[in-house]
Amino acid sequence: MQAGRQANGGPGDRLWLCSQTSSVQAFRVVTASKHRQVARRAADGGSVQATLETTEAPPRGPPPSAPVKQESEVRVVDIGPDTFSLRGYSQDRLKFEIEYNLKRGTTNNSYLIQAQDGTALIDVPDQAWTDAFVEQLKTKVGIDDITYLILGHFSPKRADSLVALLKERSSNAPPLKVHCSNPARNALLELDNKEPGLTEKLDIKVAKAGDQLDLGGGHQLRFFLTPTPRWPDGMMTYDAASKILYTHKLFSAHVASENDFDRGGWEAFGVDWKYYFDCMLAPVARQAAAALEKLPIAAQIKGVSYAGLRGVEIVKADAKFISQVLRSFLKLPEGEPAAAEGVIVVKALAPIHGPVVRSTVTELVREYREWTAAQIQLATEASIAVIYASAYGNTAALAQAISRGVSKAGVSIETVNCEQSSASEVAEIVSRSDGFVVGSPTLGGHMPTPVQLALGAILKDPDARAKPCGVFGSFGWSGEAVDELEQRLKDGGFDFAFPAIRCKFKPTESMLQTCEESGTDLAQAVRKANTRARKSKEKTATSLASSAVEQAVGRVVGSLCVLVSRDGDAESAMLASWVSQASFNPPGLTVAVAKDRAVEGLVLEGGRFTLNVLGQDNAGKVSKQLLKPFKPGEARLQGLETQETESGGVVLNDAIAYLDCMVKSRMETGDHYVLYAIAENGKLQNDRVLTAVHYRKTGARY
Ligand SMILES: Cc1cc2nc3c(=O)[nH]c(=O)nc-3n(C[C@H](O)[C@H](O)[C@H](O)COP(=O)(O)O)c2cc1C
Repeated sequence: MQAGRQANGGPGDRLWLCSQTSSVQAFRVVTASKHRQVARRAADGGSVQATLETTEAPPRGPPPSAPVKQESEVRVVDIGPDTFSLRGYSQDRLKFEIEYNLKRGTTNNSYLIQAQDGTALIDVPDQAWTDAFVEQLKTKVGIDDITYLILGHFSPKRADSLVALLKERSSNAPPLKVHCSNPARNALLELDNKEPGLTEKLDIKVAKAGDQLDLGGGHQLRFFLTPTPRWPDGMMTYDAASKILYTHKLFSAHVASENDFDRGGWEAFGVDWKYYFDCMLAPVARQAAAALEKLPIAAQIKGVSYAGLRGVEIVKADAKFISQVLRSFLKLPEGEPAAAEGVIVVKALAPIHGPVVRSTVTELVREYREWTAAQIQLATEASIAVIYASAYGNTAALAQAISRGVSKAGVSIETVNCEQSSASEVAEIVSRSDGFVVGSPTLGGHMPTPVQLALGAILKDPDARAKPCGVFGSFGWSGEAVDELEQRLKDGGFDFAFPAIRCKFKPTESMLQTCEESGTDLAQAVRKANTRARKSKEKTATSLASSAVEQAVGRVVGSLCVLVSRDGDAESAMLASWVSQASFNPPGLTVAVAKDRAVEGLVLEGGRFTLNVLGQDNAGKVSKQLLKPFKPGEARLQGLETQETESGGVVLNDAIAYLDCMVKSRMETGDHYVLYAIAENGKLQNDRVLTAVHYRKTGARY
């Protein structure tokens, strides 16, 4: 048993810089083992400068609450051929679990493969298990005999365990060969800041997609790079001999079950797997889906007896089995090779937290595919960015509870830890989100620099103002960070979906409840805003689309004319501008006549009309006459001088040209008839005046 090293709302091993221009303050919080305070304050022309290295009293007010003692232990379990898990158990909720509300403890798993050509350790645990881990590891293998270290993820929280491991290695032991992703390598190089020269004990090889490592005896390891924004260094490892896929965060669960495997299946662990997914992976669902795609997981091998088999023999047994399955599936004749290349047959999933999954592999993989797909679908509808920083996990716990509330309302979340994301990444995420929340602890009377930078990026985005938002944060005594967040967003004209959440130190259950409900409120506000925006967008799009077409159509101009038709003693006239030449031979033209025009009944096929082309000089006067309302039967050309053509057509003296036409055909076109008429007679009366045209603002009306 070992006392944990997690801080809780108190000082830890992080570096925060809080600054503001008028009063610059810098605080460096160093590891819990260093109980010293070097505080320096210098007043210089009204500005204050302070450097703090402390685990004791912070600069103002009462000290934060003391670290909670954690009990943890490590158990070694045989999980496959030459393979063991070192399972760090804790019934308590550790720091990373504060973000996680199901209080079922957790396990932190590392794995050991003792193959004929080398021993590989997969992952090192969080610092809470360092001592117990090293102790248990030594019961299985001499520390100098560990050839390889494979890292699915590496963070400062795991540094203590690696440092302890390296310290146990004798000075003449060869460097530990590390296989990891490039971001993990970068994190490893930081170890030298902790213990100068430590990385000399490492021989780091950056894994590329598909890289393999042969440990002998069939233990051919294959690496899959599976980065996510939250764990950019993510890497999975598959062992061909044991058929175990080491999945790190995927398929994890925070549950300290006595059961090392998933005995009890979905019933026993379904809730934990789903809860872990919702809390940890839903925000990175797109990348989780990409990771799943990279893994051509075929099926769990069933029906193969491994009794008495070891190493290569197991691989051969599986290959034979796969071949048989494929052969029968593809209906291949005996002797035809059935290639199963590239397919990963998984017997067990070995995650970083929770049980090793053996009996539920197929189901869990299938569920993961469905969960990620559902999350991605949600994200296309609406998403909320949850942006925060947290030194001791308290603000993170609030963020997690808000996220839960958001998810509950069916809106997807993108979590951004400001510490790990640049301001431009924050800006990008906010710009693609429909709403956002920002959370910050108060440290030294301010929000820490990463939050300040994130806030700056948000304030700069003019579109962010339209997005519902909220602020939250944990504090100890003065809580300036949330005040400042709230004020600056308020000043920027942002709309809050819920009142600012201020939490003293560690959140209580009722505080988490408030957060969850606030998250739901925010999600609902986002949905409402989206519906409003969608409706107005549709409206604008319709009007934009139609006005674009209409404007273009409006430029398709014809001459402004007066069409006059007579049949016996019936006479009618109308202004016509949808006039166009339609044929050379015979000289033909089209005129569109609205179906409700009085003249329509006179211009049937075979009917006659005279088209009077107006000039720019007097089109206004003539149009005015034709556009006024007429009583039924009222003479429309009253007051205009006319003359009659040989064929009985009516010519306006003001027209610059006229055409005597016969309707050859008539086509129904929506709310108009289009007449195709042959010009049988005509004359240009005035060649000094240009034809009048009717420019319209829209194609929706004349
Ligand atoms: C170095 C240090 C400085 C702090 N300064 C303040 C402060 O000025 N005002 C305040 O209200 N709380 C202060 N606190 C208390 C933290 O805000 C509190 O512990 C909070 O729960 C931390 O939230 P977190 O877990 O999200 O980091 C300080 C804590 C530490 C360790």
